[in-house]
Amino acid sequence: MRLALVGFGTVGQGVAEAVAMKKDFIFDRFGTDLKIVAAFDSMTYAMDPRGLKPLELVAKKQSGKGLGKTRPKSVAEMLRELDYDVLVEMTPTNIENAEPGYTNIRTALECCRDVVTSNKGPLALNYRTLDELSKKNGVELRFEATVGGATPIINLSRELLMAEKVESMKGILNGTCNFILSRMGEEGLPFEYVLKEAQEMGYAETDPSYDIDGIDSASKLAILANAIMGLDVTYNDVRRTGIRRITLEAVELAAKEKKVIRLIGEVNGGGVEVSPRMVPLGHPLSISGTLNVLHMHTDLAGAITVTGRGAGRKETASAIMSDLVGLLKRNACLLNGKVK
Ligand code: HSE
Repeated sequence: MRLALVGFGTVGQGVAEAVAMKKDFIFDRFGTDLKIVAAFDSMTYAMDPRGLKPLELVAKKQSGKGLGKTRPKSVAEMLRELDYDVLVEMTPTNIENAEPGYTNIRTALECCRDVVTSNKGPLALNYRTLDELSKKNGVELRFEATVGGATPIINLSRELLMAEKVESMKGILNGTCNFILSRMGEEGLPFEYVLKEAQEMGYAETDPSYDIDGIDSASKLAILANAIMGLDVTYNDVRRTGIRRITLEAVELAAKEKKVIRLIGEVNGGGVEVSPRMVPLGHPLSISGTLNVLHMHTDLAGAITVTGRGAGRKETASAIMSDLVGLLKRNACLLNGKVK
């Protein structure tokens, strides 16, 4: 399966490393390989129809010289001319207009290519359009990595729980906010100090207001509301309050009542909302540190909770790999009707 990787920052490099790491497994299981035929960063690109060496791409990128040649035109224009099977779109999220990810994804779907993405903006703003386009063209749009890196919520719900009706869901979808609120509660540290820690540890977004104002959580919640509950909402429909105003006093007051304050995203009959809430200690949503969690209620299974790490190089690569394997399984079914 020939991959075009677009975006070669932490996520793109993590995916290249995972492709190298899982080479033997993929060949053994599916009798084929994941061949990177093109890779793009914001300025440069490398291309080879015989396949690029993933770890050489990572080394080149880390040496600071880019991936190869300077890009002569937009990625979308190049994607129209390129021969590949799957676009792996990993450019940074832009919640204003979803670009450049939206155009890249749209272009690939229009050219009847499958798409795997970690980019939240295009799905949080244009879920319905992209979903309909992929269906119309008979290709797949997969996006496990947009919500909770190593918290396999989307494929679990859409594949294993396909027959279930998800009636409501509630969760913690931003590791940075959870880290800040738990450090404030457990160590008595002030907000600004812990935010700096989260930035130094690489959890926070480049612009941390995406985290602390609930923008990141609201984008993820909109994606889940569409993908899991079949709603038709965008990021702009999510009622949103962040954690800027949460003081140490408020956290201490909650602790006296054996509660913690957490930034919770919720979808139920009343709408789609992200806001700080009090959670009793011991409740599945009272998790600490950078973990993410989603608690769902379905008509058959009842309550299901999924917890895992929400961000990171390997964690996001794990989500993208699960989508790539999903495509390999589909291809194997289409080709010979059986999967080993
Ligand atoms: N800044 C995000 C978080 C990264 O803290 O969860 C993953 O989307």
